[in-house]
Amino acid sequence: MNKRIKINKLIGFDTAVDEVVIKGWVRTRRDSKGFSFIEVNDGSCLKNIQVIADDSMENYGDISQLTTGSAVSVSGSLVESPGGGQKWEVHAKNIEIISVAPENYPLQKKRHSDEFLRSNAHLRPRTNKYGAAFRIRSELSYAIHKFFRDRGFRYIHTPILTGSDCEGAGELFQVTTLDMKTVPCVDGKVDYSADFFGKEAGLTVSGQLSAEMFALAMGDVYTFGPTFRAENSNTSRHVAEFWMVEPEMAFCDLEGDMDTAEEMLKYLTGAVRDNCAEDIELFAKFVDKELMNIFDMILSSDFERISYKEAVEILEKSKKKFEHEISYGKDLQSEHERYLTEQYFKKPVIVCNYPKNIKPFYMRQNDDGRTVAAMDILVPRIGEIIGGSQREERLDMLEARMKEMDLPMEDYWWYLDSRRFGSVPHSGFGLGFERLLMLLTGISNIRDVIPFPRTPKSIEF
Ligand code: 4AD
Ligand code: MG
Repeated sequence: MNKRIKINKLIGFDTAVDEVVIKGWVRTRRDSKGFSFIEVNDGSCLKNIQVIADDSMENYGDISQLTTGSAVSVSGSLVESPGGGQKWEVHAKNIEIISVAPENYPLQKKRHSDEFLRSNAHLRPRTNKYGAAFRIRSELSYAIHKFFRDRGFRYIHTPILTGSDCEGAGELFQVTTLDMKTVPCVDGKVDYSADFFGKEAGLTVSGQLSAEMFALAMGDVYTFGPTFRAENSNTSRHVAEFWMVEPEMAFCDLEGDMDTAEEMLKYLTGAVRDNCAEDIELFAKFVDKELMNIFDMILSSDFERISYKEAVEILEKSKKKFEHEISYGKDLQSEHERYLTEQYFKKPVIVCNYPKNIKPFYMRQNDDGRTVAAMDILVPRIGEIIGGSQREERLDMLEARMKEMDLPMEDYWWYLDSRRFGSVPHSGFGLGFERLLMLLTGISNIRDVIPFPRTPKSIEF
């Protein structure tokens, strides 16, 4: 069997070739007298290759079966295309029909609504838009590894199954092998000693606590993996399973944390612009006319850095009617975040030094005793895209805070150990991978940038 050439490689050829093999799926077929034009796509790029079959071909009679969605293997010669729009076309010598898609193939039309495609998430990567989105997703993943590797970070595989709720927001999905029909109880409470791990377990909400252990041994590390939140919020920016990029840096303070986060966002934006030009063009044309301005804004602006206190003052002075009122001490809602980045500063904003009461236990307390060295990065359309902090490295402060928050100290003995033995200032952050994809494609619903989204009451595929 001749080795197939992928279409993204083929369209870059600079000379004609006598013998090529392509394999893919039929997008359209047009017949003329004695010959047919078949547009074939193999998912390697947005572009199709035009195949021309004529009646000198042995099985030309079978070509009429080639409906949209059918799979073919085409061998023939690559010749310059006389028609406009494409450089090359393939003159078929042989077309093997691998499978025929019958007329009830759901993707017959040229355009489908996002809702329709969401309910056909198993087929949507075959469309131009979703093919492009998932190619960008793949490139962006690679760029993340490259960014960190080039800067000497080590990649750590932090666990998915966990015994601790890092964020303390009570959003842990429980994991158990207990029989739900006969759950063992002692004094009205579930007896987890009979469970698989002998204690309560769940799916991780963040790899941070594990990553910290490795930063305190290896210096600069990162994790990039799936995280889970049983958060009952049906918004366009939340899913129950999402991917997070979490660097953790020893000997690094909040300033250094913000610098790395800003540098990373710029690097990733540049990487997508440079490596996904064709796919990005599709989004700029059909999905979001402002998309290239977003790219320019991220690449060319110095992110605004303000304190939480300043943020609240700006919001209070704005005279804008928000759905949720804002005052010092309350968490910023996405409408507040978007006002700051979209309307007030018109560029990415880093808000730091939040009141400690609205942030998790591990953040480093500032000298004022009321705020912590936290930082959130806010971007247009999305609001919060990154959340991070300097970590509390002082054992006594950390213990006091955990007691205050009523955390089960005995479960965190290993975390506290890291503050007992060779503790150093360190910092890190978490980037919501899907939110970055939304920002860089203009796709407005997070369900459309992840292959098979998981949301409340929905786990179809
Ligand atoms: O702000 P979060 O909760 O921070 C942490 O989990 C820290 N432990 C990270 C760290 O410092 N290592 O989450 C980080 C980011 C958010 O800014 C957001 O972009 C994304 O994760 N995120 C979600 N994305 C999609 N769906 C959800 N339900 C999300 N929850 C958070
Ligand atoms: Mg956050």
